[in-house]
Amino acid sequence: MTETIEIDYLPALESRISKVDFSKMVFGKVYSDHMFVADYTKGQWKDFRIEPYDLLSFTPGSAILHYGQSVFEGLKAYRNDVGEILIFRPDKNAKRLNLSAERMCIPTLSEDLFMKGLTELIKKDKEWVPSLSGTSLYIRPYIFAMDEYIGIRPSETYKFIIFTCPVGAYYSKPLKVKIETEFSRSVQGGTGYAKAAGNYAGSLYPAKLAQKEGYDQLIWTDGVTHKYIEEAGTMNIMFVVGDKVLTATTNDTVLSGITRESVLTIARDWGIKVEERQVSVAEIVQALKAGEVKEAFGTGTAATITKIETIGYEGANFDLPVDDERSFSTRVLKELDDIRTGKKPDERGWVYKV
Ligand code: COI
Repeated sequence: MTETIEIDYLPALESRISKVDFSKMVFGKVYSDHMFVADYTKGQWKDFRIEPYDLLSFTPGSAILHYGQSVFEGLKAYRNDVGEILIFRPDKNAKRLNLSAERMCIPTLSEDLFMKGLTELIKKDKEWVPSLSGTSLYIRPYIFAMDEYIGIRPSETYKFIIFTCPVGAYYSKPLKVKIETEFSRSVQGGTGYAKAAGNYAGSLYPAKLAQKEGYDQLIWTDGVTHKYIEEAGTMNIMFVVGDKVLTATTNDTVLSGITRESVLTIARDWGIKVEERQVSVAEIVQALKAGEVKEAFGTGTAATITKIETIGYEGANFDLPVDDERSFSTRVLKELDDIRTGKKPDERGWVYKV
């Protein structure tokens, strides 16, 4: 059955866009004029609307404020040379939002609702999609519990919101990261594969400790033995060792990153050897000592491709070359940028034109 999706529109009285300096974009500080909102009550998503980006109201007893029943996504829109707006792989985000929602007992929503909410919102705020190189419109869809009830059970009411932010780079420089051997981001049977709010809250304290030691972020290892590498900060992580690209398999402890999958696809199409498998700390440390790690980098929607310049392990720091124009990460970042901004033909059907 096709669902009827009618979206009401309450325009902002005045646009805030004239106050924005698009030449100085940082990540996540500037919000576009409108947001898409849907409410879930009585077993149904309803009341679809685009309204001014503004305060929300909750009662102090709202479930979301206590137990974190919330999931989110992140995707980006770009402008091509003739001013059209292109979104990178939104279907993947719609699917992953539902996967995360199922894990957190949150009702799923149709891909049609996700896509219609997203595209209508972007059409209303089309002027907010930046065009300068290195900038984009970051899109944040999320769902959270709204019941006023402080007993523990899945909420019966939810909000689905999409808002957007014109952004620049998430990280402004290559990262110094430390291999974490005490704290865990996720464990088998846990929520690591979901984009659940609590995963990010739990990662703050170990990251803060690493920052006190002079690192920017952590390399997360498996929660049982800390012998296998999983992610880095809020990103997936890849290494170029010899002539191979190595990365952890996605499973229930590793998020199935869309940038990750795109990079691996491009690498394979270029004939580069890719190994998705358990990557041990021991083999990476040994390769670092032998000078065989040519590159290490994180992949993620917000961070795109972020090079890692130093890896710390048990008090020793290993430095990596990061500025080589011929490196895989530089080449793949350019390729992704060219596809996302329409400079190169979209041979894989990744780009959705609004
Ligand atoms: C993204 O890459 O979109 C993320 O989820 C990272 C976010 C925590 C800023």
